[in-house]
Amino acid sequence: MRVLVTGGAGFIGSHVNKLLLDQGHSVTVVDDLSKGHQDSIDARVDFHQIGLENQEELEKILPGHDGVIHMASFIEVGESVKKPVEFAQNNIVGTVKLLEAMKNANVKKMIFSSSACVYGKPEKLPITEEDPLGEQENPYGITKVTMEEFCKLFHTLHNFDVTILRYFNPYGPGELHEPETHAIPNFVKSALTKTPIPLFWKGEQIRDFIFIDDLAQAHILALTLTGLHIYNVGTESGVKVADVVKQIFEIVGYEVPIDDKGERKGDVPALVASSEKLKKELGWNAKVNLEEGLKKTIEFFKNQNL
Ligand SMILES: NC(=O)c1ccc[n+]([C@@H]2O[C@H](COP(=O)([O-])OP(=O)(O)OC[C@H]3O[C@@H](n4cnc5c(N)ncnc54)[C@H](O)[C@@H]3O)[C@@H](O)[C@H]2O)c1
Repeated sequence: MRVLVTGGAGFIGSHVNKLLLDQGHSVTVVDDLSKGHQDSIDARVDFHQIGLENQEELEKILPGHDGVIHMASFIEVGESVKKPVEFAQNNIVGTVKLLEAMKNANVKKMIFSSSACVYGKPEKLPITEEDPLGEQENPYGITKVTMEEFCKLFHTLHNFDVTILRYFNPYGPGELHEPETHAIPNFVKSALTKTPIPLFWKGEQIRDFIFIDDLAQAHILALTLTGLHIYNVGTESGVKVADVVKQIFEIVGYEVPIDDKGERKGDVPALVASSEKLKKELGWNAKVNLEEGLKKTIEFFKNQNL
């Protein structure tokens, strides 16, 4: 298939590109490099440095593609609280312009990167796709819920094939956000530079950490779908954040002090996916366990100039 990946210079997009190419698909990337890294883009990709706001240019690039994997977004929760207008503009308006461009170019398959954050504070675990969406405590979450709604609307109004993938906690090599607020890359970097590990809630929170290659594979499988689908993407196993720190210490073979950061507003105590639907309907499985994934992530950061 010929696939256009928005946000393909970012952490998750760069892995999705590579997997698509390795499996024989051809890939066009649209990314404005506001956050991503040009050197993360596979050399086999047809790269266009443009932003989603440039609907006219998107309409020139899109014709001939079989579908779009839409990952371009601002993602940092704390930043979204400070800059709600920028987040709404970039994420929501950017998505609507992309959808309009797709409609005009007659490209009607959309795989959308959503997040477990749409469930808010879950009423029960594991979370299934039938569970209600929860109250949002920051503009980022509201943009994700709204972007989902616009994708669904284009299915209803214009017969788009839409698959919404709700990621739990992705991690792996290549995670180079700036600022970085995600636990695993920050823990690994602190461990490798032998500086204190920043830990909120004393590490009592439970998360479902999904390795990047497993997450990327879900996008490729979703390309085969028609109609409207929503899937959680997680390992279905909840891990205490403090236990992730312990595993990192075991892998590197030493410990560093903990920097107790106290509580952080807006964090939910536990998030664990049910990925039954994805497994049953698409034959997807999480293959990489936390220990193996952490080892690969640590290897990646050892080769960075930290
Ligand atoms: N990383 C996570 O933990 C996580 C969790 C759940 C959902 N997601 C979603 O997955 C997607 C990818 O996340 P990531 O971690 O790879 O983020 P990232 O910041 O590494 O990548 C996003 C990319 O989008 C580009 N971009 C942003 N706005 C753009 C615009 N208007 N036009 C063109 N390009 C634009 C950036 O330059 C960047 O390369 C996002 O939609 C995010 O909301 C990520």
